[in-house]
Amino acid sequence: MSFSRRNFLAGAAAAGAAPLLPRVSHAGPRAFALTAAPAAASLVGSDWPETRVWAYNGAVPGPELRMQQGETLRLTAGNRLDQPTTIHWHGVRLPIAMDGVPELSQDPIPPGGDFTYEFRAVDAGTFWYHPHVNSTEQQGRGLSGALIVEETAPIKVDREVTWVLDDWLLRDTAQIDDRFGHPMQLSHGGRLGNTVTVNGAIPGDFAVRAGERIRLRLINVANARTFALDFAGLKPQIVALDGQPVRPHGPPGGRVVIAAAQRADLVIDMAGSPGERVIVTDSYYQRQTYEFLTIAYDGGAPLRDSPLDAPIALPANPVPEPALDDAAQRERVTLQGGAMSRAMPADAGRFIEQGQFWFLNGLPDKGRGREPLIAVKRGRTCVVTLVNETGWEHPMHLHGHSFRLLSRNGRPNMRGEWLDTVLVSPQETVEIAFVADNPGDWLFHCHILEHMAAGMSGIVRVA
Ligand code: C2O
Ligand code: CU
Repeated sequence: MSFSRRNFLAGAAAAGAAPLLPRVSHAGPRAFALTAAPAAASLVGSDWPETRVWAYNGAVPGPELRMQQGETLRLTAGNRLDQPTTIHWHGVRLPIAMDGVPELSQDPIPPGGDFTYEFRAVDAGTFWYHPHVNSTEQQGRGLSGALIVEETAPIKVDREVTWVLDDWLLRDTAQIDDRFGHPMQLSHGGRLGNTVTVNGAIPGDFAVRAGERIRLRLINVANARTFALDFAGLKPQIVALDGQPVRPHGPPGGRVVIAAAQRADLVIDMAGSPGERVIVTDSYYQRQTYEFLTIAYDGGAPLRDSPLDAPIALPANPVPEPALDDAAQRERVTLQGGAMSRAMPADAGRFIEQGQFWFLNGLPDKGRGREPLIAVKRGRTCVVTLVNETGWEHPMHLHGHSFRLLSRNGRPNMRGEWLDTVLVSPQETVEIAFVADNPGDWLFHCHILEHMAAGMSGIVRVA
């Protein structure tokens, strides 16, 4: 079965969660508190029982945290779950001790305990937070939220909107299917759900005014699902990917593709007429196109006659530029394993028996232990060639750094966008480069959480 707009009346409108604190300018750190605890949420609308979830501050997604570039965040994370947890600040370039990875960064926060995170936001952009313990279940039950770092001089738009995209596997009681870590999910495409939500509810109408310019921040917090949004007649311009500015451009192929953990900032001029309705579809998976939501223009007169005449390019962040010369360290990471795979390391069998289905350079995470997958001297440029020998796609995420996407299958990528998560298609080879300027043991893993749980993870040691 599948929960969709056809089965359910639209629940709460797709409105963003309110910021935790009013906007005030002050010199000290920006203080927040998040507590992870069981809660109930109306994911599928009022005709159905509420879904028992795990939530930050009782909300799914958690509160949208907002701060300005250069400010310091200080956040107390409380744990009212019956298992340890942490918070990882996805995409934020911060010190290793604040990265939220058990063993590499901190001791997990025990039930009843708390931990204070503090870091300066060096980059403006769209980021997000989630646990890094028992991720498939903790994130799959609802623990995630947006972290927005505003530019000091933002681009001019009429309205800013965040869409946190999620995908839930629900039973027909509207409760979460609790088979987390099922071998089928681990060894295939991850935990793909049957219910897509935007900001914690099945999306209904998204109300707009003709002529308005919207900055739309998309964040994919799903365990596994990739989205490919087609905005029909509208012409979204992509202005940032994974929080990092990119030269504004239309989505390649006409669809905004956003894999698990990725973000995209769009600028959209609502070019339709009053009263018009435009259906946004998601057509990523073959033969599974569905109506994602409807953009509904109100009846009011257009805000303006021609699109707003203001630049949409965002100012660059201070990310160090890789030096692609002979001094760069070149590494190769081969992705292997998974169901129906021909490419398997020789001794794969003993790991598969332990539920470790995925391999980076021949070993699953548990086989390598604390040995790094890549070790690089601090300050050096590292070029990594990712070779996907599996029959599955993998959104590969590097902690603590943003990297440039250099090429796909040997074809140079002229746009050279900065990412922290790159989607590597089956049998594809992708080249990335970054300056290893942030000391620590950083995770490099597939963000299909079931793949990470089943071995597709390693350490990049910067020392
Ligand atoms: Cu969202 Cu290890 O990451
Ligand atoms: Cu994967």
